Amino acid sequence: MKPYVYITRKLPENVVKSLQEKYEVNMWDHEEIPVPKEILLTEAKKAAALLTVLADTIDESILTAGENLKVVANLAVGFDNIDLNTANREGIAICNTPDVLTDTTADLTFGLLMTVARRIVEAAEFVKEGKWESWSPLLLAGHDVHHKTLGIVGMGSIGETVAKRATGFDMNILYHNRSRKPEAEAKLGAVYVSFDELVEKSDFIVCLTPLTSETRNLFTRAVFKRMKPSAIFINASRGPVVNEQALYDALAAKEIAGAGLDVFEKEPIGANHPLLKLTNVVALPHIGSSSVETRTTMMELCLENIKAVLEGNNPKTLVNREWLSFMKA
Ligand code: DGY
Repeated sequence: MKPYVYITRKLPENVVKSLQEKYEVNMWDHEEIPVPKEILLTEAKKAAALLTVLADTIDESILTAGENLKVVANLAVGFDNIDLNTANREGIAICNTPDVLTDTTADLTFGLLMTVARRIVEAAEFVKEGKWESWSPLLLAGHDVHHKTLGIVGMGSIGETVAKRATGFDMNILYHNRSRKPEAEAKLGAVYVSFDELVEKSDFIVCLTPLTSETRNLFTRAVFKRMKPSAIFINASRGPVVNEQALYDALAAKEIAGAGLDVFEKEPIGANHPLLKLTNVVALPHIGSSSVETRTTMMELCLENIKAVLEGNNPKTLVNREWLSFMKA
């Protein structure tokens, strides 16, 4: 019997073809609708490998549904949707897709910053709606990006790559991170500061920190109150890092000037979400890594990781190093 691999979203046939030679592969048949929990449980019971997306909650019940599960390959760099403690206890390898999405996600993050600063969405809608009657001196005037201060919270590879983009705009770069990054300091002129100093001094605050118990609810009303009234807040990490009500209140009270959000507390958000009522907010549907090239590479990396584990090898991008001790045992 071939090992069973279940894929929780419809992926292009040509990408999954290479798995089908050696494994029995089944795939949820929708691109945009998540697989219901009952179906995922039934599939997980049989599976030796799961290829999951960040919208799937891979909790203890899924990880322990069957006896064959060896690997979960998550189509994202983030893995806050997976219960690592259970995976470690059960000896299940958890894999993610770091590095291959760094440039693409940094591009989107910097693009979102530019979009909010220069009011690009508002301006494009203004033209489409036939509102443009004449050139006028302060028509849809935004704020400059060049020579301003960028504050990056979470200086992982995506943070560093955003900083690299910022050097082309002659920005001053501040960052806050769990550990200092001497190479980024030397190469990019980034300056390490405390979280409070970053929040107070930055014109653009870009959140790129992973979601952990320490970063959940990091951006509260008190934090937004410490920002400059001209500050623009960008979140391209995970929604729960921000207290969304606090962000709404800060924007509505004009305590900060705008926000660009690729992620939300509960995704997807509907058209009635309060933040969408604010003209100084640009909201995107979690598309940080979404270019055809990068998403295809991410899928291929997931397949490579699954094949490696099922063939008794180390996966290329393992999240839980604890799993290696199961390999040796
Ligand atoms: C990730 O990979 O974690 C990103 O959020 C996807 O855009």
